[in-house]
Amino acid sequence: METKISEIADGIYRLSTYVPDIAPPAGFTFNQFLVLGDEPLMFHTGLRRMFSLNLAALRRIIPPERLRWIAFGHFEADECGAMNEWLAVAPHATPAHGHTGCMVSLSDFADRAPRELHDGELIELGGKRVRFIDTPHTPHGWDAGVLHEETTATLMCGDLFTQLGDGCAPREGDVVGPAIAAEDLFRYSSLNPGMGATIRGLSRLAPRTLALMHGPAFSGDGAAALNALADDYDRRVSGEMRALLAGEAA
Ligand SMILES: [Fe+2]
Ligand SMILES: [Fe+2]
Repeated sequence: METKISEIADGIYRLSTYVPDIAPPAGFTFNQFLVLGDEPLMFHTGLRRMFSLNLAALRRIIPPERLRWIAFGHFEADECGAMNEWLAVAPHATPAHGHTGCMVSLSDFADRAPRELHDGELIELGGKRVRFIDTPHTPHGWDAGVLHEETTATLMCGDLFTQLGDGCAPREGDVVGPAIAAEDLFRYSSLNPGMGATIRGLSRLAPRTLALMHGPAFSGDGAAALNALADDYDRRVSGEMRALLAGEAA
């Protein structure tokens, strides 16, 4: 395996590792995002077993000691499994996550006290600024949230829009169809009645780049893509509800 680096927006780098053995023949990517600034931030830590790959990739951009923030979308091995390994090589870095995640997991798991972010809270990185937005249970995880970098309108959307394959970044085109196909395959989302509204709410950010954790970065009309994804989840949730009610009536 190798970790490829690409700049997906001004000063935002994607560190991408392709694993052909997951969902073959298409395979699957795991992506971390480095946001440069006076206080560089990394979104996602990657799996522990990928730490050495990701560390070597990051060193090609900045020394790890410069990292000041380590953030992620929800508490899961690919999102934050290597957090403590990163904290060990980045002595000035602070983990940052939403209130729920800090309360439930990071207060115990993190080797360094986290900064607890409230919904809509901003971290000034110096030259860049990121806003944390709570998206509970969307696509999964009580503690789920996304990070929006405002100077470049880049939405680091975690597992939203997950798709298969080893695409280059960034690219235009259809980001919704492949996400629907991956949801059909993996069933990875916690379908819930508020899901469509949560995703539709993100469209108000009008992102120009969607930084997918699994898949190529998307460049284009992020609001339209988010609204279309929200529509698909509304359809799924109402379909599940209809099936449930039909089962009860039978
Ligand atoms: Fe996840
Ligand atoms: Fe993930």
